[in-house]
Amino acid sequence: MNKIINHLPTAELQELDAAHHMHPFTDNDALAKKGVRIITYADGVTLTDSEGMQYLDGMAGLWCVNIGYGRKELADVAARQMQQLPYYNTFFQTSHVPVIALSAKLAELAPEHLNSVFYASSGSEANDTNIRMVRHYWASKGKPNKKTIISRHNAYHGSTLGGASLGGMAGMHAQGGLPIPDIDYIDQPHWYDEGGDTDPAQFGLERARQLEAKIAELGEDNVAAFIAEPIQGAGGIIIPPATYWPEIQRICDAHEILLIADEVICGFGRTGNWFGSDTLGIKPDIMTIAKGLSSGYIPIGGSIVSDEIAKVIGASGDFNHGYTYSGHPVAAAVALENLRIIEEENIIGHVRDVAAPYF
Ligand SMILES: Cc1ncc(COP(=O)(O)O)c(C=O)c1O
Repeated sequence: MNKIINHLPTAELQELDAAHHMHPFTDNDALAKKGVRIITYADGVTLTDSEGMQYLDGMAGLWCVNIGYGRKELADVAARQMQQLPYYNTFFQTSHVPVIALSAKLAELAPEHLNSVFYASSGSEANDTNIRMVRHYWASKGKPNKKTIISRHNAYHGSTLGGASLGGMAGMHAQGGLPIPDIDYIDQPHWYDEGGDTDPAQFGLERARQLEAKIAELGEDNVAAFIAEPIQGAGGIIIPPATYWPEIQRICDAHEILLIADEVICGFGRTGNWFGSDTLGIKPDIMTIAKGLSSGYIPIGGSIVSDEIAKVIGASGDFNHGYTYSGHPVAAAVALENLRIIEEENIIGHVRDVAAPYF
C-alpha cells in the first residue's frame, strides 16, 4: 500500500490536535502538555506512529478490529458500494441489497430465535434503541408500567444519555445529570475483586440472586428488562463464575423479564464463538452488536431481536425510532464482507483452538 507520508511534522500535528480536537474520556489539558501519540499506519496487529515507532495492538483498536488491519477487501467493497449506492434511507418503505443481505446473514449467525435486526451506527445508539424497544414492547402488550431496566454497577453500555445510564460507571454518572429515570442496578459478579472468602460458585449465585431481590423490590410488573455483557469488558474483563448466567437466565424466565445481552465486545469471535451468549449458554431476547461487526473499519451497530419481540413491535403500528444511518449501505456492505472473512478464514476457530489455550 502507498502510505501517506507527506503529513506535517509530529510536533505541529500535536499542536493542532491540542488546539482543535477534544478527545473522549481524556483530561485534554494534561494530554496537550504531554503531546498526543499520532498513529499513521496499521497492518495486521501492528500500529505505526508518526515517528516510525511500532506497537503491538493488543487491544485491537478499542476491542473492535477483530480481523486485524490492512484488509484491502473491506476497502474495495466500500469503494464499490459508494459508487453504486452511497446512501439511501430505510425509513420510508425502502430497502437496499447490502442491508437485506447483512440482516439475513446476522439472522443465520445469531441464536436461532433471534432473526430481526434494527440498525444503529454504534453500540451506544443500539442500546438507546433497546431502551425504547423493550418499553414499547411491554406497552404494546398492555403493560406500560413495565419500564425499568436493571443493569449492574460498573457495567459499560455506551456514552449516549441512554447508554451511559444503562452503564453503571460512577465517573460517568457524576457528569451531566445521569442516569435517566427508570434504570436500576445490582452488583457485578466480580469474584476476584469482591468475592473475599466466598466460594466462586456461591458468589455467582449470590450476585445473580440480587436480580431476583431487585425485581421483588421494584415489582415484577414494573421491570422491563435486565441488561448485561456476557463478560464485562470495560469494567475489567470480568468473567462471571459459571453459576452466574444460568441463575440469571432462570430469574429472567421466571419473572417475564427480557434479557438483553450486550455483545458489543463479546460478539464476532472474541470468546471463541460467534457470540458471548453462545460461549456462556445465554438465551437472550435481544443482543446489542457493534465493533467486531465491521471490525471497526466503518461505524455500524444494531440490535438483533427475538421473533417474539419482532412480532409484537411489528404488529403495533409505527415504531417511532431510527437513525439517518440505520442500515447504511456502505457500512452494511463492509460488515458483510467482514463476516465473510471471519467465516471463510475460520478466525473464530483460531481464537478458540489456537489463541485461547495460550491465554
Ligand atoms: C459492552 C459495550 N456496550 C456498548 C458500547 C458502546 O459502543 P460505542 O462506543 O460503539 O457506542 C461499548 C463500547 O466499548 C461496550 O463495550
